[in-house]
Order: sequence, then C-alpha cells, then structure tokens
Amino acid sequence: NASIKFDKILFKKDISASKAHANMLGNQKIITEKEKLRIVNALSEIEIEIKSNKMKFKNELEDIHTHIEKRLIEKVGSLGKKLHTARSRNDQVATDVKLWLRDEILTINNLLRQLQSTLIEKAEKNLHTIMPGFTHLQVAQPITLAHHLMAYVNMFGRDRENSKKILDIHNYSPLGSAALAGTTFNINREETASKLGFKAPMRNSIDGVSDRDFILDALNSCCLIFLHLSRLSEEIILWSSAGYEFINLPDTFSTGSSIMPQKRNPDAAELIRGKSGRIVGNYVSMFTVMKALPLAYSKDMQEDKEPLFDSIETTKDALKVMSNMIRDISFNSDKMIEMCEKGHILSTDVADWLVDELKIPFREAHNVTGKIVALAEKKNLQIHNLNANDFKKIDKRINTKLLNS
Ligand code: ARG
Repeated sequence: NASIKFDKILFKKDISASKAHANMLGNQKIITEKEKLRIVNALSEIEIEIKSNKMKFKNELEDIHTHIEKRLIEKVGSLGKKLHTARSRNDQVATDVKLWLRDEILTINNLLRQLQSTLIEKAEKNLHTIMPGFTHLQVAQPITLAHHLMAYVNMFGRDRENSKKILDIHNYSPLGSAALAGTTFNINREETASKLGFKAPMRNSIDGVSDRDFILDALNSCCLIFLHLSRLSEEIILWSSAGYEFINLPDTFSTGSSIMPQKRNPDAAELIRGKSGRIVGNYVSMFTVMKALPLAYSKDMQEDKEPLFDSIETTKDALKVMSNMIRDISFNSDKMIEMCEKGHILSTDVADWLVDELKIPFREAHNVTGKIVALAEKKNLQIHNLNANDFKKIDKRINTKLLNS
C-alpha cells in the first residue's frame, strides 16, 4: 500500500495545498481564525522539518499526505484533525501531483528553449556549410548544415507549444472534490483554486478525483520529446562513425573501449536513444492502468507516480546532456562536402534547370536527367564531372549554360 518511498517528493505541494485549504476553512468560518493560523504556522514548520531531513518516513503511514497530517496532529493536538474537514486524500493527491507537474513542465519548457538556442548558435555558424541531405538515408540533395539543424529547432518548438497547451487545458483545481461527491460544508473552491494558481476549480467532482489525463498528456509529451531526441541521437551516432566522420564528439560525451584502444563510442547519444524505450514504456504503462478504470478513485491510480516521476527526471537529464553535447560537437565541413561528391547529388538541380531553361515538363526533365546519371555511372563519374559533349549526346537542347549554372 505504501507510496511514501516515491511520493515524498510531493511534500512542498502537499503543504501549499493544505495551507490553501486551511485558509479557506477559516475564511468560510468552518474553523476559527485562531485555529486557521495555528494550522498554517504548524504546516510551515513541518515544511522546514522535511526540507532539513528531520521527518522519519514510515511505510505504516502509507503516503506523504498521511505523514504530514500525522505530524500536524502531533504538533497542534486534535486541532490538527480538523484540517481534513471537507477534504479527502483523493482530491489532495490529484491537486498535489498537478501542482508538482506544472512546475516540472515549466522547467522542461526552459530546457527545450536552451537546447533550441544551442542548436540555433550552431546553425548560425554554419549558414554556408554544405552537406548532403538524405532521404532513405541515401544522398539526396545538397543542403546547408544550418537547414538541417533548424529542423530540430522546429521539432523542439512544437514540444514547447505542446507543453503550453498541456498547462492550459489542465490548469483546473481538483481540490474540494473531496472523496468524489463534493462536500456538505460551505467551502469556497474558487478561493483555493486561485490561491494555488489554477484558472478555476474543476467543474465535476467525480472527474476531479478520477482524472489523470494531465499525467497521460505529460507522459505523452515526454514521448514526443524523446522521439525528437532519439532521432538527433541517431544522427550523432551515424555522423561520428567512420562511414561519415561529419562530427568530432567531445571526450566528455564519448567513451573508450576496454579492448579496442582506438574507439570513441558515442555513449551519451546511445543512452538517450536507449532511454526513449522506457519513456514510451512509462506512457503505455499508465495508459493501461487508466483504461477501463471505473469512476471515481481506485488505488490503481497510485501507479501513476513512478512512471511520471521517472519520465520527467529522465527528460530533464536528457535535454541537459543533449544541449551540452551539441554545444561541444565540432563539424567537419570537408567530410560533408566529400560526401556530396557521391550519389549524383545535383540531379534534381539538373532536372529543375531543364524545366526552367528549356521549358520542358518536369516528368520529361526527370527522364532526361535519368539518362545523364546512367551515362555518368557508365563513365564512373559524377554528373557534375560530365562535359558539354556528354550532355549534348543525351539531349542536344542542353547548352553550356548548364555547366556554368
Ligand atoms: N497514495 C494515494 C495515491 O497516490 C493517495 C490517495 C489515497 N486515497 C485512498 N482513497 N486510498 O493515489
């Protein structure tokens, strides 16, 4: 039953939500002004005790909510038992996790911004660095390194938009839903909601205690961030390999082999790629917990915490590592240009030239270019090494302007 081992990290949010609740009980005259102040002060002391590691956590007390309440009762006597008026651990836990997650999402948003800035800095330095662009991992068309890096800036931009959207849709307070049915006391849910920085209370108390969509949305957003991080990692791994040599990995982000002295393994990138597996796993595991769960709260929902805490922690770590790794990577522009010498990379440009200059339809231009490539292959050359006669042989309309374009 115990969740204290992992849910103790919610202690600050449990204290804030409890203070908001106690203040509201006082303002609504459900407890007296004096009682309210004593409870709020004691809660502040408990927060300091936990911060300075003075609280002994015990499995018998199950979770962080019970630990704090028990300690309050020790401090202020039976008055402490009044805090739970018009409240249940069900609305308490939903509120605490939502508050905790809101801060974490903001932190992740900042880390995403930092990674974007690092990528933009590299892109700005490489506005004119030519590299091969790939489709099917085959050399396709020449692009600039800046163009390629900015693709990732855009992906992480969507992740940031996504995080703002999640904060927006879920910024409603479950507090006051009590166990599920609301309460007979004349509470003020607007007050607690606004004190805790929510837009408003959740509209339905049953939904209030049984909703974990905010956790699923956050886990899903971690999946998307990791999808993007794993693609970037994969490219770092490929680009640092002997087949490419596009980048030099900094020592801090690579590891030698215990047997092969020449090795510089891209461990950090491989770990980020590998961790994407457990991030997807965390999402699937929580989705499976929630699927077909009847309303309202069931203890199954306690299973929300470990995957959530793990995904958030891992996402923050990976974003920091990726940012530092990108900052320290150096690019070998000569190797990139060298690869542009393969794969008849200018074929599309030739076809476009034929359309533009000779006004022939693109499909026909594509066909003519195919013949040019075939000739180049026969001669063991790249198309940009063919001479005017070669082109004339394929199609006499082609003039020397092509060679100069
Ligand atoms: N530790 C519990 C959880 O994380 C808190 C809510 C307990 N509620 C209850 N009715 N047993 O879900």
